[in-house]
Amino acid sequence: MRDALGEVQSVLVLGGGSDIGKAVVTRLAAGRCRTVILAGRPEDEMEVVADAAKAAGATTVEMVHWEATDTASHSRIINEIFDTYGDIDFVYAPAGILGDQAAFDADPAFAAVAAQINYSGLMSSCIAVANRFRQQGHGTLALMSSVAGIRARKDNYVYGSTKAGLDAFAQGLGDALVGTGAGVMVIRPGFVHTKMTEGMDAAPFSTTPEEVADAIVDGLAKGTETIWVPSLLAYMFFVFRNLPRAVWRKVSDR
Ligand SMILES: NC(=O)c1ccc[n+]([C@@H]2O[C@H](COP(=O)([O-])OP(=O)(O)OC[C@H]3O[C@@H](n4cnc5c(N)ncnc54)[C@H](OP(=O)(O)O)[C@@H]3O)[C@@H](O)[C@H]2O)c1
Repeated sequence: MRDALGEVQSVLVLGGGSDIGKAVVTRLAAGRCRTVILAGRPEDEMEVVADAAKAAGATTVEMVHWEATDTASHSRIINEIFDTYGDIDFVYAPAGILGDQAAFDADPAFAAVAAQINYSGLMSSCIAVANRFRQQGHGTLALMSSVAGIRARKDNYVYGSTKAGLDAFAQGLGDALVGTGAGVMVIRPGFVHTKMTEGMDAAPFSTTPEEVADAIVDGLAKGTETIWVPSLLAYMFFVFRNLPRAVWRKVSDR
């Protein structure tokens, strides 16, 4: 249960080794969050996040094996986590891969794996989370969409389509949870400097994991449903998503 000041006291991260997740967890633990459950792989990446959470003030930090593509295990794992640690105030789900369009073109089966990691594996996990949120009568789930999902580009349309699906899922689930005490936040960052984008040329208006974490924690306090990082992207993509396709093909060609 959030404390008297409305701050979360417990967080579960699906994709526990994520760089943005590390910034979020550190920011929360520096506040009043004392319980941090990291779910994912591999253990050594999650250990870096676990150490950061402890250093920031978390007192209970646990790591749980969770593989996004193993959808049959998700309901059991989520239920075990809630049964073991009690109420969870905030579930943050940064698991994902960017992949490479050329690699997807060369191996269509790999494109389907990306869809499992970015979309269907989060769907099976987050429906289980939503069921527990309904039972406990509170909780916020935050899902990582992307501007890539708002208007797909020809040079990363597999990734973009997984994020479009996840964004729609987050909106629909959020609407379904109205009145239960639980809610869903959807985050739409542009380019963030993390291991996912390492070695790539930064896109305009690039940002950092810390800035994304600040926006998420600020959104948690305000109950914001949709967060763009930076916020200017909301206006830009309002225009981009309404451009005729022939114009978008030229604008997005880079
Ligand atoms: N960075 C950006 O520019 C950007 C922009 C918009 C949206 N996003 C989204 O933000 C989220 C976090 O990204 P990030 O930049 O923090 O990337 P990151 O540091 O690479 O984190 C992604 C996490 O997903 C985990 N993951 C990948 N495949 C998995 C699987 N099969 N099962 C379980 N976990 C798996 C990774 O674990 P392993 O280390 O084990 O692979 C890693 O911990 C992603 O959903 C990403 O699409 C990122």
